[in-house]
Amino acid sequence: MRRQNGFPRTAIIVFSPHGNTLKVAGAMKEGFHSQGIEPTLIDLTGAPWHEIRGFAYSTLNDYDLLVLGSPVYAGRVIEPIEIFLSGLPSTEAKLAAVFVTYGLISGNALFHAAKLLSKKGYEILGAAKIVASHSMVFEDERDQFILRPSQEDLELATTFGRVLVDKTNHSGLKRVSMDMLKPKKSLAVRIFNKFMATRFGMALLPHVRFTKETCIQCGRCAESCPVKILTLDPYPRQVGDCIRCYNCVRICPTGACMTPRMWVFDMSHKIISRIYKEDPLSALLF
Ligand SMILES: Cc1cc2nc3c(=O)[nH]c(=O)nc-3n(C[C@H](O)[C@H](O)[C@H](O)COP(=O)(O)O)c2cc1C
Repeated sequence: MRRQNGFPRTAIIVFSPHGNTLKVAGAMKEGFHSQGIEPTLIDLTGAPWHEIRGFAYSTLNDYDLLVLGSPVYAGRVIEPIEIFLSGLPSTEAKLAAVFVTYGLISGNALFHAAKLLSKKGYEILGAAKIVASHSMVFEDERDQFILRPSQEDLELATTFGRVLVDKTNHSGLKRVSMDMLKPKKSLAVRIFNKFMATRFGMALLPHVRFTKETCIQCGRCAESCPVKILTLDPYPRQVGDCIRCYNCVRICPTGACMTPRMWVFDMSHKIISRIYKEDPLSALLF
């Protein structure tokens, strides 16, 4: 690991199946650069489950500030980030920040990540939620779902990096309050988020099916799997827990990887986005 003279020595840790969170992390790095800091980007995407569970946390000892980035999945941070945070050793007086990318409802995600970090003794300096294309929406043509993060969203991410450096360098450091991160949503949305975070909620997300008849064994599905649970023997087969990112479905050139119930999601998504009045907004919380 490279030691830096600049303060804070920063690690940005992300998991990004579809690439939005990684893109936002790149913009955030620019903000650090503008303040003379070179953060280390630790991209956990593509690490198999055992590597995430066995992450060498001692490699983080030299950092002053950890910035965690995750997509929102069912109103929470994605499971590999949750596992990473759960295994993080407790610390005293270390700093952290969190950011999520999301397509429609960020739900409990920022609060969830910040709570896991603060349980480990981290002071939360700031949080950001950045709107991005919804990686589960296959058929919605509205700009909101395909053209984000926009230039403005990315500029906000750059500002986030810059402000984090400012905050760590100035005395009288102000932490973000947990109350600010709590979603102030209607009861119905809160119940929906809570339900979706359970085993039953996740079970509603369509499963991926593989069809031998149309599979050409190109292996693109296995390459695209961010938790490396697909094996070709000789046809694709899941050998671990699927996070339902649907990368394999998107990338398959012959439609052999498919989600038979995806129309249910597309329909319910359209309904939710109409009932849910608030437009998704990118925002920084300090
Ligand atoms: C299984 C799944 C669940 C999702 N759940 C939510 C959600 O609850 N709220 C939301 O706003 N976006 C949700 N999304 C959209 C992602 O949060 C969004 O597309 C994110 O930018 C993806 O990040 P990535 O490109 O780094 O993978 C979900 C996407 C998937 C695939």
